[in-house]
Amino acid sequence: MSTGNSNAGSGEQTTFVKVAAAITATGGLLFGYDTGVISGALLFIREDLGPLSDLVQGLIVSVLLVGAVVGAISGGALADRFGRRWTALLAAIIFAVGALIVALTPTVEILIFGRFVLGLGVGLASLVVPLYIAEIAPPDTRGALVSLNQLMITIGILVSYLVGVAFTPIEGWRWMFAVAIIPAAVLGVGMFYLPETPRWLYENGFAERARNVLRRTLGGNEAEVEREIEEIEEIRRVEEEQEQVGYAELLQPFLRPALIIGIGLAIFQQITGINTVIYYAPTTLEAAGFSPGGAIVATSLGVGVVNVGFTILAVWLIDKLGRRPLLLIGVAGMVVSLFMLGLVFRLGADSPSLGVLATGCLALYIASFAISLGPVFWLMISEIYPLNIRGKAMSMASLANWGSNFIVSLTFLLLISAFGQTGTFWLYAAIGVITWLFVYFLVPETKGRTLEEIEADFRGTPVAPSDVG
Ligand code: BGC
Repeated sequence: MSTGNSNAGSGEQTTFVKVAAAITATGGLLFGYDTGVISGALLFIREDLGPLSDLVQGLIVSVLLVGAVVGAISGGALADRFGRRWTALLAAIIFAVGALIVALTPTVEILIFGRFVLGLGVGLASLVVPLYIAEIAPPDTRGALVSLNQLMITIGILVSYLVGVAFTPIEGWRWMFAVAIIPAAVLGVGMFYLPETPRWLYENGFAERARNVLRRTLGGNEAEVEREIEEIEEIRRVEEEQEQVGYAELLQPFLRPALIIGIGLAIFQQITGINTVIYYAPTTLEAAGFSPGGAIVATSLGVGVVNVGFTILAVWLIDKLGRRPLLLIGVAGMVVSLFMLGLVFRLGADSPSLGVLATGCLALYIASFAISLGPVFWLMISEIYPLNIRGKAMSMASLANWGSNFIVSLTFLLLISAFGQTGTFWLYAAIGVITWLFVYFLVPETKGRTLEEIEADFRGTPVAPSDVG
């Protein structure tokens, strides 16, 4: 397989792969945008279609997560059966249709349905975007290219805050949703023109087309193309010898470690509390003494900017330092900041600096997440599963992620009333300690290795090593 560095002079390779990754990552932008836009829009939906009970408001927010669960369950089987490209195209269509339904809705019921449809798109995109990029990327830049997805998620969240602010003077909540049709169109048109991934093509009997795509991703280097084909072929032979077909494949003993790692990271990414900050930062800061309004808007923007900034740092570091060091450093930072956040609430009940200290803790927490569990979870689940069931296995991990997201979002305010801020953030900190130990003992390094080498390692049947450094 290509090492990237052995293709010296193939600028064409990098350009094609980069453009393809950037277009596909528009799916990540939509993921972030559609999860973030509701916080600004809800205020005006309440006025326009209201009065709305707390339950209905909660439903408007969280039904997207239910849709994402359904999208995640179905996405893997679709991606394995019909290909990564058609699944991404389907996600684009669903994003556009969902945006139209919500933007034009006459009633709150149809609005809820539209948010569910948007959720389907988010669930599909969340697994097919990393999957597509991982399968076209060379090993030495795969981390950065797949993490473009996470970068676009964070940019999507930030843009949704900004669009929310921009349309506030005209109370234009319908416009806030309608704007998402633009990136959906970019994703749809882009996927229409981009090729299917070489790995899916080869696995499904289109060897010549797989070669043609590899020629483009490898800048026409024939020797590299043949080597890569050989590696895919070798791993396919092993798969055929070792496996049954269908979902039963997911239960094979050799797959267990990879399933535990993927599902474990999926759950830990959520139950360490990230979306209590992304969705509820204003609530927390209000409790820390900020007056509602301007300061809170500014701080939400601050959270968004720190998230984007540190994700850029992660994209830059992920193929250099590796996945494990980023996880270990970042999760440690999350534990420290959550502990301090709890402490600030405990010690500083009437201190005027409470708000400032709480903001500092939130910033450290977001920065730590952004260099670790944020990008590394979505990257790793695109790397650690065997080719012939990669989609289905990613579905499981993605499903666990959206399910945990739903539970955490639903229970956060209940936990606060039961245990207070301090108890709640210390609970997340304790879970962070377990997460760190999980990473330390179970999560392997995948930096710089081909997908086929990673697969062979889990199977215990090494393939001839490539010259990846
Ligand atoms: C997570 C989302 C989260 C986002 C924040 C993603 O990796 O899956 O739940 O809202 O990061 O940046």
